Amino acid sequence: PAARPLAGRHVLVTAGPTHEAIDPVRYIANRSSGRQGYAIAGALAKLGARVTLVSGPTTLETPPGVSRVDVESAREMADAVDAALPADAAVMVAAVADWRVEAAPLKRAKADMGDRLELVPNPDILARLGHSPRRPRLLIGFAAETHDVLAHAAGKRARKGADWIVANDVSGDVMGGTANAIHLVTEHGVESWERMDKDLVAERLAERIAHGLA
Ligand code: C5P
Repeated sequence: PAARPLAGRHVLVTAGPTHEAIDPVRYIANRSSGRQGYAIAGALAKLGARVTLVSGPTTLETPPGVSRVDVESAREMADAVDAALPADAAVMVAAVADWRVEAAPLKRAKADMGDRLELVPNPDILARLGHSPRRPRLLIGFAAETHDVLAHAAGKRARKGADWIVANDVSGDVMGGTANAIHLVTEHGVESWERMDKDLVAERLAERIAHGLA
């Protein structure tokens, strides 16, 4: 049992970018490989959790033991998250696009594009979950920042109703890379982890989640 401390628990993970269609051939998106989220989903499954991975478009293989739901847009991701509840814990790693475009059903001609896109705000999936009656007992968000990492992370933790924020400085080569240096922001303060492989970040975080749910 010590090796499978998450047996009987359901953990929801979001990962990857979302794609917001402009028309059938164009989209806007955030830069995200999905690697960190997939690694976390796999590490949680190894500890015995039932894992639902709600994934935006990526080129990654589903980790063993993980059940994956593919989505494209933020609104599809929000619906898939709702459909996957209830969960004991949720780890929101996805780089969700903050805005969508009123998508055109036919490809827009370049001449008709003009120089502006009308942007509509997307739902904040983490914040909605943080303030929902169906909130998982342990709710974890991510914060990719280029500056004032800790101040922004603490603000996000409060605003979004998360228990923990995993903050990282993406001003270097983290995006798409295999290593990550994170700060874990909890109710007790900040823990800065040394730079390590994303798989190791995932393992350590999964262990912390197991402790948090014990
Ligand atoms: O506000 P920001 O995008 O920096 O917040 C990042 C955190 O919020 C991540 O955990 C991300 O998955 C989540 N998020 C979300 N829905 C959004 C925007 C962000 O779940 N629309």
